[in-house]
Amino acid sequence: RQPQSLSPRMNPSQARPLRLGVNIDHVATIRNARGGDHPDPVRAAEIVAAVGGDGITAHLREDRRHIRDEDLARIQAATNLPLNLEMAATREMLAIALRHKPHAACIVPEKREERTTEGGLDAAGMDNTLAPIVEELRAAGIRVSLFIEADERQLDAALRLGAPVVEFHTGEYAHAFLDGDSDKVTRELKRIADMAALAAKNGIEPHAGHGLTFENVQPIAAIPQIAELNIGHYLIGEAVFVGLENAIRRMRELMDAAR
Ligand code: PXP
Repeated sequence: RQPQSLSPRMNPSQARPLRLGVNIDHVATIRNARGGDHPDPVRAAEIVAAVGGDGITAHLREDRRHIRDEDLARIQAATNLPLNLEMAATREMLAIALRHKPHAACIVPEKREERTTEGGLDAAGMDNTLAPIVEELRAAGIRVSLFIEADERQLDAALRLGAPVVEFHTGEYAHAFLDGDSDKVTRELKRIADMAALAAKNGIEPHAGHGLTFENVQPIAAIPQIAELNIGHYLIGEAVFVGLENAIRRMRELMDAAR
């Protein structure tokens, strides 16, 4: 596939439905803080299904700081929702993905010392590492997504690699929003909207995620080509105060209203 030029923005009435994938990692973070079984991320997955969430997202990190290997099968068995497994581009994670066969695998950069995924994957600089992993996942029928910055070079790499999905890292946008830097918010939004349009034009489904909250979700949800948002930390944090059901319902309302 050859990259094509930017298309004019789609009319919002042509926007596709926007899915919400709930990242339940931080239920496991709280569980692991005490080393027992409570709170169980499986119960969170059941609640996501009960309130009409569209998918479960979980990141099995190299250091297993939140989700553990045995959680994956339990999460898959608990609901019929598609599981989006976030994973580093390593042979260990590939073997786990091939064993569990999640609906989707989102390849993310991973550094041991980071608190969370701090930037997009350098897909453009990692072609050689990524190509066989993307290929093996695809051959197993797993929908591959690359978590990248909204940047043309990275999108070109995703095209070259044959990834059907990209997830744009919204961390810079979220930070600018928190800092009250409205010029940067506008720039970041434009960058994400332009790259979402370019991805869709080239047959790649754009998703977005990282740092999304009740306050900042709507401009991202309004980008018509974006098909899925993956949201975790804020929803689990809000769940402490209002319950997970209510937090997800509110996020869903805001997303729908923005669409
Ligand atoms: N998407 C990806 C690829 C992620 O790695 C994460 C978590 O780091 C998220 C979405 C969710 O981000 P957050 O927890 O900030 O909502």
